[in-house]
Parts: sequence; C-alpha cells; structure tokens
Amino acid sequence: MEVRTTINTSSAFFGHFINGEWITDQNTIPVVNKYTYEEISRIGSASRKTVTEAVTNALHTFQTKKLDSNQRYEILMRAAEIVRERKEELAMILVSEVGKVLKDARGEIDRGIQTLITSAEEAKRIAGNGVPLGQPGNENKMAYTIRVPVGVIGAITPFNFPFNLTLHKVAPAIAAGNTVVLKPAEVTPLIVCKITEILSEAGLPAGFLNVVNGRGQETGQYLLEDERIAMYTFTGSAAVGRQIKSKTGIRKVTLELGNNSPNIIHKDVSDIDRAADLCITRGFSNAGQACISVQRVYVHRDIYHSFIAKAIKVAESLKIGDPADSATDIGPMISEKEARRAEEWIQEAVQQGAKVIYGGERQGAILKPTILVDVTEKMKVVCEEVFAPVISIIPFDQIEKAFEQANHSAFGLQAGLFTSDLHLAMRATRELHFGGVIINDVSTYRADVMPYGGVKDSGIGKEGPHFAIQEMTDEKLVVINL
Ligand code: SIN
Repeated sequence: MEVRTTINTSSAFFGHFINGEWITDQNTIPVVNKYTYEEISRIGSASRKTVTEAVTNALHTFQTKKLDSNQRYEILMRAAEIVRERKEELAMILVSEVGKVLKDARGEIDRGIQTLITSAEEAKRIAGNGVPLGQPGNENKMAYTIRVPVGVIGAITPFNFPFNLTLHKVAPAIAAGNTVVLKPAEVTPLIVCKITEILSEAGLPAGFLNVVNGRGQETGQYLLEDERIAMYTFTGSAAVGRQIKSKTGIRKVTLELGNNSPNIIHKDVSDIDRAADLCITRGFSNAGQACISVQRVYVHRDIYHSFIAKAIKVAESLKIGDPADSATDIGPMISEKEARRAEEWIQEAVQQGAKVIYGGERQGAILKPTILVDVTEKMKVVCEEVFAPVISIIPFDQIEKAFEQANHSAFGLQAGLFTSDLHLAMRATRELHFGGVIINDVSTYRADVMPYGGVKDSGIGKEGPHFAIQEMTDEKLVVINL
C-alpha cells in the first residue's frame, strides 16, 4: 500500500520521488554511517510497478510541459545558491553516508555548485550547425541543424561522488530540456534525495526529476527494461556498464566506467617533491575510490629510489581515521567488504612477489594507504581497477616502455605524465591511449567543465555539462526549399 506525502526535508526515511511527491513503500533498505556503522536512515526499494510509474510520469512531463532555456537557467542557478547556503549540512551527509573526509566533502559540494552553474550557462547555448548546401542541384535549398532533447533519461549514479556525479547527470539533462528517472547507489542515496528537494525548492516543476531508490539488481534492472527511456547515463563498474550496453540495444548510452590510472614520472620532472606529493595525496584521497585515482606510477630508474623515499614521507604525513574530523585525510572505504577485497588483492600480490613498503593493514572499513613495489603486470593490483588506497610504483628505463606499459590496460580514462620536455609531452598526448592525458599533474585531475570520459573499457561518451548536453540531445536536420 502506497502513502503519498509532501516534501519533508527533515525526513529520516526516503521512498521514491514521483511527480513531485515522495511515495513510501513497505520494503526498505537501511543506510548506515560508513565510519560508525550506525543506521542513519532507511530508503525505499522500488518495485517494477513504482519504476513504471516513474517512467510514465517522466514521459508524460516531457510530452506535456516545457521549460524554456531561461527558465532552466534560473532553476539551476537558484539550486546552486541553495546548495551554497546549505553547504555544511550537505557536506555532513557525505561524511556520514559515504565516509568521505570533511575537507573532501566540502570540496565535493563546491564542485557540485560549479556543475550546476556551468549547466545553467550551457542551457542558454544549445545550438546546431549551419549546413552548406553548395553542391550543384541544391541552389534553392537551405539547411541547418537544431539540437533537441532526447526525452526521458535513465540515470544510475555511483557511491564515490554521489553529490557531484549525480549533478553531472541531472543538471545537464535538465539544462537540455529532458526529464529524468534517477536511481542512486543504494549505499549513498540520502544526498541524492537532498538534491531532489533542492531542485524542487529552486522551482523545478513536478515530473522533471523522478527518483527511484533501491538495489541495482532489482530497481536498476527494472529501469533498464523500460523501453520508453530514450537514453541511459551510468557511472560505475565496467561489468555493469557492459550489462547496460547489452540490455539497451540501439538506445543512447553514456558510460563512465573504471580505470587503473597510470602516471609517468620522467627523469626530467621539474619538481619531484610535487610529483610525489600529488601521486600520494590524489591517489589516496577519497580512500582511492575514484575512477581516475593514481594507481600505477611508472618512475624513471634514475629517480626511482628518491621518488619512493619522498612518497613514503608524504604517506606518513596523512592522518587516517574519523571522516568528521576536519584534520583527517583518509577515512573508511564504502564498506568493510570492499576494504577486505582490496586487502586480499594486496596479499595475493605479496604471495606473487610484490613488496609492501607502506601500509597494508586494515581495520574494519579502513584500509591503511598502501604502497607496493616489485609488482608485475599480471597482478590484480596492477591490471584491474583497485578502487582502494593502493598504489604500485614501477621503475622504467626507456620512456617508450613506460608508454607501452601505461597503454597495456583494458581501460583508458585518464593518464598523467610529469616531464619538462615539451616534445615528449606532445608525443604523450598522441601515444597514450586515454580519454584524457594530463601533463605535469596526476590522472586524478578533473575540473568539472572538462570533457570527461574514456576509451576501451572505460566507457562511451563524455560528461562535463557542455559535452553531456551534446550526448543528451539529438541533432535534427532542417531543410527548407526556398
Ligand atoms: C570518478 O570517479 O569518475 C569521478 C572522479 C571525479 O569527478 O573527481
């Protein structure tokens, strides 16, 4: 039996948000604090019927209500203002349900504000192209294209940056004039429910954003099976990305998947201290749970030992523990299960000959940041996406070999290279087979305005508001016979 309520921002329970109302249901899933393991809330678990209702609503809204670009701009800008006003409250939700350390949580809220503002600005700049019909026989014709929204977008969002990565899907979708049915990660749904409320408060009319909570294997599957959804946008693992691709046929998809990000430190690096600091702090931030986390560090043999000594020193300076403490650098991973899995990968690598030179221990969901050496390409910590605070440092003699090893991966999201040689930097941008090559910074660099997306198993399509809007609109040709 369903009960409809109006929005209650202090609610400890979130069901599903359909047509501007929260719907509760009887099946619920607990949401826990990732550091204390206390239950902090419960969410609904959407049945097929609820998902169908959400899609029906999103489709009806798309067909019957329109927001002009200025209205979309105003709503997203107002949402950015509300987020700014409520920054501390929102950051504390990330601390609690993600286990994200407070300074990173605040950083994620700031990034989300930029994602909203950039999406708002982009809403006013959605344009097609002129088509030059200069060929003989077309003299009386003119042609151009316009970009039109695709319709209902199914968005499935991850746990690691649940605020900003949800906004990377919802804000461009709204900016482009689409409607959305969103399924958040079941372990971090609360911040997404807050986004929903904030957008409503900012003036987004009922029906434009619908949220169905629940588990991926159930609610997520129902969402994939609804053929009225025109496009899916997903961030998560390559395994799930593959499943989505196989289920969605010729419908559009944007898939932001994994990576085992390589970073090359050449012997001519201008500031080795900075390179070591960035590799360690960015590789271990968010407990290594980012698709672009530094994972493989290839260091020229001439500076290998010096780099290792510096890396250990930086790792030793990091404070591990309670994410709510503003001095903490590394908090828990998303679950003890995931921390155990990463610990097993480390132990397996050690059995195969790797050496732990820092960290390696685990307590509950906290895995101490770990640095490995003497690894081989076949070890899971190297060839798979570790998604944990685990870095391998690998020496190389020839830069060609470093490029080859960096490219030797099923993934291709972002890679980093430190060098003072402009020619080498330019060569790297051609030879490294990745969606992004970052020179003199690490793979973990992302500004939210950038085109973000990978090649190979790292996915299809780009995010970043301007680029996401290209994905979330169709280019329609108009020909006029004069
Ligand atoms: C990701 O994990 O793909 C997102 C990383 C980020 O936005 O910083």
